[in-house]
Amino acid sequence: MIDKQSPIPIYHQLEEQIKAKIENGEYKPGDSLPSEREYAEQLNISRMTVRQAITNLVNERYLHRIKGKGTFITEQKLEQNLNGLTSFTEDMKARGMEPGNRLINFEIIPANQSIAEQLHIAEHAPIYEIKRIRLAENIPMALERTYIPANLIKGLTDNIVQNSIYQYIESKLALKIGKASQIFEATIANEEEIEYLEIPELSPVLFIKRTTQLEDGTTFEVVKSSYRADRYKFMFDLERQ
Ligand code: GLP
Repeated sequence: MIDKQSPIPIYHQLEEQIKAKIENGEYKPGDSLPSEREYAEQLNISRMTVRQAITNLVNERYLHRIKGKGTFITEQKLEQNLNGLTSFTEDMKARGMEPGNRLINFEIIPANQSIAEQLHIAEHAPIYEIKRIRLAENIPMALERTYIPANLIKGLTDNIVQNSIYQYIESKLALKIGKASQIFEATIANEEEIEYLEIPELSPVLFIKRTTQLEDGTTFEVVKSSYRADRYKFMFDLERQ
């Protein structure tokens, strides 16, 4: 499958073939890659060339090496497009993946000063505090803590928050969601994130804080999400002003 007459360097042809096998699922995340020797013999090319292709794919994070064990296929991250205001449920469905929630906590509490200020409500006013693990195909993707004024978004139940909050707001309450602002930060997982996201100690996580308004400008949620940095990447389109 290598064309030695082609102007495309052989290492590059091999890289493309390995990438294609990862993308079409023939090579699965966690699988070990055939050895340099196997590729070299099978394709009748030098081991140096194979090594170069593999090194490039390691640098591009398609593959990773484990000392003493070999080279493995890396889990591909989900790319989330941040150009629209979408919900987790919508994002997963748009990708053909099954969204899920593991509910850790759901209760009404008095807002502390900081959350009250962010939601523009009185301190101690009742808010829903919702803590959910957001799953894709049953794999934990993010830990999300949501604060919602109970006098504004009425009638939330544990059943609703185990599905989609945005859907409830729009379909059942017939309120329109308007816009949001988000802050991104890179952090190291804390104890709770290590446990709920099932990640090793010192793993990086992407911390996102979203404050969202209804179309009339009322703030209806403050959400603190911690996304697994090994599973997620984000994409923006940027336009020069
Ligand atoms: C994303 C956002 C959250 C939002 C949530 C709603 O995860 N980061 O700010 O609250 O979607 O999701 P759903 O409608 O699936 O409950």
